[in-house]
Amino acid sequence: MKVQVTRQAPTEVAVDVLILPLTEGTPAPADVNEALGGLCAQVVGADFKGELGETTLLYTGGRLPARKVLLLGLGKAAKVTNRSLRRAAGIGARAARSSGARSIAFAQPRTVEMKAATAARFVTEGALHGLFRLPDWKSEKKERPEVEVVHILGGDEVAEGVEHGRTVAEGVNLARTLAWTPGNHMTATRLAERAAEMCRQNGIEVEVYDKKGCEELGLGLLLAVNQGSREEPRFIVMRYKGGGGKGPWLGLVGKGLTFDSGGISIKPTEGMWNMKMDMGGAAAVIGAMQAIARLKLKADVLAVIPSTDNMPDGGSYRPGDVVVGLSGKTVEIRSTDAEGRLILADGLAYAASQGCQKIITASTLTGAVNIALGPIRFGLVANDDAWEEEVYQAGEAAGERGWKLPHDEEYYDLIKSPIADMINGTKNRAAGTVAGGLFLMRHVGDTPCVHMDIAALAWKNSGDKYEDEGATGAGTRTFVEAARRFAEGGR
Ligand code: BES
Ligand code: MN
Ligand code: ZN
Repeated sequence: MKVQVTRQAPTEVAVDVLILPLTEGTPAPADVNEALGGLCAQVVGADFKGELGETTLLYTGGRLPARKVLLLGLGKAAKVTNRSLRRAAGIGARAARSSGARSIAFAQPRTVEMKAATAARFVTEGALHGLFRLPDWKSEKKERPEVEVVHILGGDEVAEGVEHGRTVAEGVNLARTLAWTPGNHMTATRLAERAAEMCRQNGIEVEVYDKKGCEELGLGLLLAVNQGSREEPRFIVMRYKGGGGKGPWLGLVGKGLTFDSGGISIKPTEGMWNMKMDMGGAAAVIGAMQAIARLKLKADVLAVIPSTDNMPDGGSYRPGDVVVGLSGKTVEIRSTDAEGRLILADGLAYAASQGCQKIITASTLTGAVNIALGPIRFGLVANDDAWEEEVYQAGEAAGERGWKLPHDEEYYDLIKSPIADMINGTKNRAAGTVAGGLFLMRHVGDTPCVHMDIAALAWKNSGDKYEDEGATGAGTRTFVEAARRFAEGGR
């Protein structure tokens, strides 16, 4: 699919569907209305109110070069945000596609208080997000209408925004694809191959450690989780040297758990199938690294992905075991289902050992974050308030919302062990998301570190007007925006 900036007026562009994004109470552009003999004015305010995501399709009957016009509601002007604009654009693009459009054009949103470039960025991102098709493994391929060209109407003032939106959407869509892919197709080995392929295409250095390599590095926690598996683990390290390669380095760490059965602490059958998305954090890291490289951000970024599945077997690690990983801290296993924090601890310790100045990590870490925040905001846990605020703001600016959870000293009591430095569970299931996050913080030393728990956001059980069901790519955008700010001297 092509996305291009087109310097034409809405009355000039020859496409299947011309999309006019309008806030509530805003009339359609006068030139379009006039060309259509006042048709827009009759519809706007009557049949079409302009509520967020509302669409009305008009046939132009040859009175415009565009075959159809789609009025697209943005909601109240005062309430338009980057997220709502992105969502509206996705809904508009999908509605146009359903009507059989192969080419579409977005006019500039009317009466939106946002810089033209920013608006164009989120319109582009939403359109590419909404139009994206996840792969399937059906034996019979269905012929479906596809949009081939998306025009964003405007000039130089929107070009950079369109490029940014397209690059971010491509990163998000890559993340969605990886996390959506079944566990038997997306093993640790395969995930590493996909990461390496992305790196080769985008000028990123990559190292992949196999099981022996993990042993040599001393990744005892990743290896403990891998014990029950027939699949080898992989430890993926990517280095993007946009700042020259001399540092300071930003570290991105993602949970690459390709399938989480729970291990010996096995999960119930219901819902276990979508634990193929338990590498959503890793997928976000890979998608973000692609975008960071394509945007040519002037930052040095180190990305680390520990990857394995978590399976029950005679050789599995057990509840009660005491294990030790790269940080040297010992862990008493209370549940083999709290495996994510184990593999991440090794990934984080590695990132810290490589001298990262600051670290951000993303993972589908706890079911508890869904209880606390639902599928709206991801949970943030950190060891440094200032860095946490920066990551929070990066999320807001990128159209992803987090929520800062507490990290008072007393919370560390929840992960105390009588026999080791810490347990990998939480006492009485209290503050599950905080406990999981603070477990991670105990493996980075003094490096400022922020953890995003995306467990409630990484997967949607049903599709809607904006996006298909399945993996969402959550976390990708926050990573990219945080890296952009890091490059701009948020160092
Ligand atoms: N991958 C899961 C968390 C999860 C749950 C992700 C639902 C997405 C949707 C994680 O490995 C896990 O099993 N966490 C346990 C931790 C507990 C044993 C301390 C949980 O949340 O129950
Ligand atoms: Mn688990
Ligand atoms: Zn898991």
